[in-house]
Amino acid sequence: MDENPRDPRAARRARQMVATDRLLGVDAVPLDAEAVQTPAAPPSVAPAPVDQTRPAPAPPKPAPEPVMSHDTPLAADLPPNTMTRDEKVAALAELQAKMTDWLHASWEQNGWNKVVFGTGDANADLLFIGEGPGADEDKQGLPFVGRAGQLLDKQIAAMGLARDQVYIANIVKTRPPGNRVPTPEEAARCTPYLEEQIAIIQPQVIVTLGATAAKYLLDDMKIAITRARGQWRTWRGIDVMPTFHPAYLLRQYTPDNRRRVWEDLKKVMGRLGMKVPEK
Ligand code: URA
Repeated sequence: MDENPRDPRAARRARQMVATDRLLGVDAVPLDAEAVQTPAAPPSVAPAPVDQTRPAPAPPKPAPEPVMSHDTPLAADLPPNTMTRDEKVAALAELQAKMTDWLHASWEQNGWNKVVFGTGDANADLLFIGEGPGADEDKQGLPFVGRAGQLLDKQIAAMGLARDQVYIANIVKTRPPGNRVPTPEEAARCTPYLEEQIAIIQPQVIVTLGATAAKYLLDDMKIAITRARGQWRTWRGIDVMPTFHPAYLLRQYTPDNRRRVWEDLKKVMGRLGMKVPEK
């Protein structure tokens, strides 16, 4: 499940993540002990002779591939948005059940409790995507319900919207151990479900919260959020606005950072055809 530390692309990705975290003022990320591959120590005693009469232990089961029901080629724009809200609600419920089964069957139980699929209006024009569940989200099975979520609720309210008028999801659907940043492999295993979720909702605008969500959604590990925020990108024909993560804003609650996020959200309001406040 972990990346090969000798793979130069993995090493480059890891360096880029660390560099971006430094830019954001994150100077320490809890270490995922399982991610550190140490060479096996040589046996101190001679290995026991193999008992030929016993059956060999079964090899570990490979994780099943995610099963998609909406088969849309990834590079292309999404198909026309033809589903009714009720059809979208049903399609999301089906996807949630499938994803939850798949995660419980294949995902290592490294401390997470609940699968956090996403919440909100299945037919929303605006989709927020965060990084992954934290402790509060893991307990409740809902995204952005802790302190960062309370700030996100205020931002949504400042836009003149209610939480249930937008949709909120994450790149990874279970809490990474110790709240660390999800690994590229964890993200790669969850994003097919997120992509299918987006293909059902078909929002007009996606707001990615923080560097990790922007990098993994846009498949661009070079993104530095301080430069990328406020600049429109697209994902399969949908406008994407990267902005700071509310948890970062809570740590760096400066007037400048608050103004930057508000400027980003005003751009989103404009793109959605909403009345944009002057200030
Ligand atoms: N941070 C995230 O990125 N997502 C959540 O759901 C909560 C905190």
